[in-house]
Amino acid sequence: MNYNKKSIEDIEVAGKRVLCRCDFNVPTKDGKITSDKRIVAAMPTIQYLVDKGAKVILCSHMGKPKGEWKPELSLKIVAERISQLLGKEVIMAADVAGEDSKAKAAALQNGDVMLLENTRYIKGETKNDPELSKALADLADIFVNDAFGTAHRAHSSTAGVADYLPAVCGYLVQKEVSIMGKALANPERPFVAILGGAKVSDKLNVINNLLEKVDTLIIGGGMAYTFLAAQGYTVGKSLVDNEKLDYCKEMMAKAQAKGVKLLLPVDTAVAASFPDPIDAEIPVDYVDCTAIPADQMGLDIGPKACAEFAAAAKAAKTVVWNGPMGVFENPTLAKGTIAVAQALADSDAVTIVGGGDSAAACEQLGFADQITHISTGGGASLEFLEGLELPGIACLQDK
Ligand code: 3PG
Repeated sequence: MNYNKKSIEDIEVAGKRVLCRCDFNVPTKDGKITSDKRIVAAMPTIQYLVDKGAKVILCSHMGKPKGEWKPELSLKIVAERISQLLGKEVIMAADVAGEDSKAKAAALQNGDVMLLENTRYIKGETKNDPELSKALADLADIFVNDAFGTAHRAHSSTAGVADYLPAVCGYLVQKEVSIMGKALANPERPFVAILGGAKVSDKLNVINNLLEKVDTLIIGGGMAYTFLAAQGYTVGKSLVDNEKLDYCKEMMAKAQAKGVKLLLPVDTAVAASFPDPIDAEIPVDYVDCTAIPADQMGLDIGPKACAEFAAAAKAAKTVVWNGPMGVFENPTLAKGTIAVAQALADSDAVTIVGGGDSAAACEQLGFADQITHISTGGGASLEFLEGLELPGIACLQDK
C-alpha cells in the first residue's frame, strides 16, 4: 500500500467547501465527554482549514446507532467542545447531508465551521451506500480524511465519498501513517514488537505479518499461555485457545526459520480464579511458566519477564506495542503492563503504541509524553500492523 498521500497542504482549500471526516467517536458518560483526546487530535487540521479560509464541514460517527436516530449519540456535545477549543462557533447541522446540512453548508462563509450529525444515523453509512456518499460529496468541493481511527472501515463518509471528490489526508492521518508506515517499512533496528491481549485469535495476522519485519517478537498477556501450551508446558487453568495450538507452533517455527527472537514470559502471576469484579483484590503468587500449578491461572507476566521485556525494549531502536500484559484493570495484575509502559517511556528508541488498551494504559499512567507516538486508532492500528490496506487511506490521492 502506498502511504505517500496528498495532504491538505497539497491542495488549495481557501474559499472551498471542505468535507473533513474526523474520528469523534469519543467516550461519554451522562451526556458528557470523558476523554476529548480524539477531538484534540483533530484540531491541527481543523485549525489549518479555518486559518486558510476554507468553509469547513466536519463529520464523524459516534457509537453504533445502526441507522437509528439515537439522541444520546448526537454529536452536539462534540460541536460544543470543538467550539471551545477553536474559540469560535461551530454550526451544528440537524441532519447528515439532508436539507438542513445543505442549507447550512451553502450559507458558510470562509473560515466558518459546521458539524454534521452522526453519520451512522443513516443506514447507508456502514454499507458504503453510493447514494449517501454522493449526498455527502454534494455538500463540498474537497474531501479530507483525518479519521485514522475509522480508516479501516469502508464506509460512505470514510471512503465512498472519495469516489466523487478530490481526496487528501489531514495532519492526524498523515502523522499516523508516516510514523507507523515508516516503522513497518523501514524501521531502525533492532526492531522489537511487544504483543499482548487476551486471545491469540485476535492477533493471528498481526503476529504473522510482524514476524516478517521484526528482530524480536515478545508475546505477553493472555495469549502467551496458548504459546506456552503449544511448547508443551502445562499451564493450569490459564486461558488457552486450543484451536490455535497448531497456529502457535507454526509461528514459532516461522520465527526460528527467519531468525526472529520470540520471547515468551518466563514467569507469571497466578491466582485461583479470575478476579470478580475485575478490580477486586485477590491473592497472587509468582511462579515460573514451566511450573504453573494445575489449579491456578496465569493473569499477568511476572517480575523476571518484566525485566527481560524491559531490557529488550531498552536495547531496541524501534518498539511497537499493542495489547496489555495481564488483567491491567486490576491493580495487582497491572504490574506487567505498567512495566512495559515504563520500559517504552524510558527507551531511547522510536516507541509506538498501537491504540486501544495499551494506549489507555500509557495515558492513565502518565507516560504519554514519553512515547514517540500513541495511535488514536484501536482496530485501525491493528489492521495497519497486519499489513492490510486501509480503505480510508487507500482512497486518498497519491503524491
Ligand atoms: C474506534 O473507536 O476504534 C473507531 O472510532 C471505530 O469505531 P467502530 O469500531 O465502531 O467502527
